[in-house]
Amino acid sequence: MFSQFDKDFLFGAATAAYQIEGGYNEDGKGTSIWDVFTRKKGKIRDGSTGDIACDTYHNYLTDIKLMNQLKLDAYRFSVSWSRILPEGRGDVNQKGLDYYSALVEALLDNNIRPFITLYHWDMPYAIYRDRKGFGDKETAKYFAEFAQLVVKKLGDRVKDFITLNEPWEHAFFGHFIGEHAPGEKNPRQYFRVAHNQLLGHGLAVGAMRSLRSDLNIGITLSQFPIYPSRYEPNDKDLDSVEMADLFINRFYLDGIYKGKYPEKLLNRLWPIIPKGIDGDMTTIAQPIDFLGVNYYNRLFASRKWYIPFLKTWVDRGSVDPRYDHPILGTQGYPEGMKELAKRYREEYGNPLVYITENGTVEPGNEIEKWRIDDNKRIQYIDYYLRSLREAITEGSNIKGYFYWALMDTFEWSSGLDCPMGLIHVNHKTQQRTIRNSGYWYRDLIASQISRR
Ligand code: FCB
Repeated sequence: MFSQFDKDFLFGAATAAYQIEGGYNEDGKGTSIWDVFTRKKGKIRDGSTGDIACDTYHNYLTDIKLMNQLKLDAYRFSVSWSRILPEGRGDVNQKGLDYYSALVEALLDNNIRPFITLYHWDMPYAIYRDRKGFGDKETAKYFAEFAQLVVKKLGDRVKDFITLNEPWEHAFFGHFIGEHAPGEKNPRQYFRVAHNQLLGHGLAVGAMRSLRSDLNIGITLSQFPIYPSRYEPNDKDLDSVEMADLFINRFYLDGIYKGKYPEKLLNRLWPIIPKGIDGDMTTIAQPIDFLGVNYYNRLFASRKWYIPFLKTWVDRGSVDPRYDHPILGTQGYPEGMKELAKRYREEYGNPLVYITENGTVEPGNEIEKWRIDDNKRIQYIDYYLRSLREAITEGSNIKGYFYWALMDTFEWSSGLDCPMGLIHVNHKTQQRTIRNSGYWYRDLIASQISRR
């Protein structure tokens, strides 16, 4: 028996421009920081780039047909800033805008509701060169201008907009530890980028609303329940859990919903917190229509004296077998859906939530992870959806779930070697094959009694 959801609950799938489009220099597209970063030696595990990726710049109609076959209600994708504004601002690349317009038309023709992410990490290189990306406050304004441009072109047909995708990841991996583009390793820059992204979000919300009053605007945050690495924690372990939670989760939630960053975090990190942020907080905290949540797994924190200021660090993988899920193993923590949802209900005013990403690589060896009969992925989705269903029963206002990803994408520093799709992609031939999980998801959608 499939989990059952209300009639208005949306089932979708998600992608992001750099991870699927290819066409990296076609029809006037400008260079993004990922175009530059992937060319640097040793940055991408398998040496690949997103130059071609899934080639959806050319193949989007094929993919929309597949989405239709899967009976998706909604599709979350991102627009590439440098495809639309090759220099990040100024001259508009009409062909870039036309591409997204055609994509939207085709989605609507197939009754698929488009959710657009405006910034999914692919900063125009020109803005990085001149302004260090979101390292500079000016970029927040540029971003709002870009958001307006997209709304002008698409806002008559697209109503659901996500300003930023996972500002924590972009700031942390891109500017603190250098694993993502642009590859900076600078804790101070981390906070500038974190804060200026949120400012950009706030300015964009205002700018978009000034053009249209019929938009649903939200932001997507990555969210992690945080547990102590040590199964039986001491006080220091608990402090590291709290600090990691403030740093990764609450900084963003509190900024947006409370208009202030967590005091305890600021007190610990004051030497590297940018000056003059107070005046931006009202802009950052203006009302939004929904919270997008990307939830995959929990993190395990432990005290690390050598980490400057924070003194805490987190691991992703299993640290104690007692934490393992009996079926999903080390990475699976479906209960996290309920834990996060409870927090939003009790501490952030029970906002409308969309799960904008959740998904997995099929566990196993190098061959198994590419399987078409991906039955472990099915179990994973099923467990997470059941937990999400329970969160709704407990009172949470969750209205949709987007599986990550629609198809096997270019997975950032893991390159093309990290398949997470409902649809298998052979990146040499661009052949698509719907996986068992894709058919299972289709059947789940079709089984919703509320819709009959
Ligand atoms: C998220 C990203 C998305 C994808 C998934 C696996 O952090 O938003 O682009 O890489 O992880």
